[in-house]
Amino acid sequence: MSNAVVVVTGAGRGIGECVARSLAKEGAKVVLSGRTVSALEGVRDAIEADGGTALVRPTDVMDPESIAGLFDDTEKAFGKLDVLVNNAGIATQTNMVDMDEAEWDRIFNTNVRGLFLSSREAGRRFRDAGAGRAINIASVFGLVGRPGFSAYCASKGAVINFTRSVAAEWARFGAQMNAVAPGYIATDINAEMRADEAAYKKVLRGIPAYRMGTPEELANVVTYLALNAPDFLTGQTIAVDGGESSV
Ligand SMILES: NC(=O)c1ccc[n+]([C@@H]2O[C@H](COP(=O)([O-])OP(=O)(O)OC[C@H]3O[C@@H](n4cnc5c(N)ncnc54)[C@H](OP(=O)(O)O)[C@@H]3O)[C@@H](O)[C@H]2O)c1
Repeated sequence: MSNAVVVVTGAGRGIGECVARSLAKEGAKVVLSGRTVSALEGVRDAIEADGGTALVRPTDVMDPESIAGLFDDTEKAFGKLDVLVNNAGIATQTNMVDMDEAEWDRIFNTNVRGLFLSSREAGRRFRDAGAGRAINIASVFGLVGRPGFSAYCASKGAVINFTRSVAAEWARFGAQMNAVAPGYIATDINAEMRADEAAYKKVLRGIPAYRMGTPEELANVVTYLALNAPDFLTGQTIAVDGGESSV
C-alpha cells in the first residue's frame, strides 16, 4: 500500500519517530502528532531529507478537540486516512498503595482514553471508506504484571482487550485493528533506568535475549501490520520482546 496516509501519535521521538520514518520510507504520507512541536519538526525534516512526505500537526491526546482537529487536518492535507498508529503513551513507577488519583488518571487519560478517542475518529472514517487499519502500541506490561507498574500494566492490558473488541466490530466493514506489545526498547521512557547499572542488569536478567530491543525492530513489525499484512489478520497482539513474555 504505497501512498497510504498515516497518522502517528507521539511521533516526535522514540518508537513513534522510528515508526514514522519507516512508514515514510515505504512511500506513506505521514502526519506527525505530539505535543513538542520542535521534535515533530525535526522528524519532518529528516523524512523530507530522505525524499518522503510528512506533516506536523501538534496534538495532545488528552484533549478530544485536539484529536478531532488532527483527523480533520489530515483529510484536508491528504484527502483521506488509511492507517492510524496509536503510539503516544506514558509510564510511571509507583507502588499502588502510594499512588494518587492524579497519576492514575494521567496514565489512563493518555494510554487508554486518548487511544480510544483517536481510534473513534479513525474508525468513523474507516467505516465510511470500507477500509483502514489501526495499530496500537501496547506493551509486554499489558500481558504480565509488574510490581510498581499497576496503573501502566492495567492501561496496556486495556489496550490489548480494546484491540480485540474493536477488531471484531471493524471486521464487519473491512477495517483492521492489531496491537504490538514491545518489551524493553531503548528510548527516553526508560533512560533513567538504563543509567542505573544495577537496575539495568536486573531488567536484562528477565529478558531471554539478554538485551533491549531497538526502535527499528519494533518499527519493522508496525510497518508490516500497517502496509503489508493480510486483511484477515486482525485483533492480534504481537509481542516484540526478546522472549520476555514467554518465560
Ligand atoms: N520503550 C519501551 O521500552 C516501551 C515498551 C513497551 C511499550 N512502549 C510504548 O511505546 C510507546 C512509545 O514509547 P517510547 O518508548 O517511544 O517513549 P517516549 O520516547 O517517552 O515517547 C513517548 C511519545 O508519546 C508522546 N506523548 C506523550 N503524551 C502525549 C500526549 N498527551 N499527547 C500526545 N503525545 C503524547 C510524546 O510526545 P510529547 O511528549 O512531545 O507529546 C512522545 O513522542 C508508548 O505507548 C509506550 O508505552 C514502550
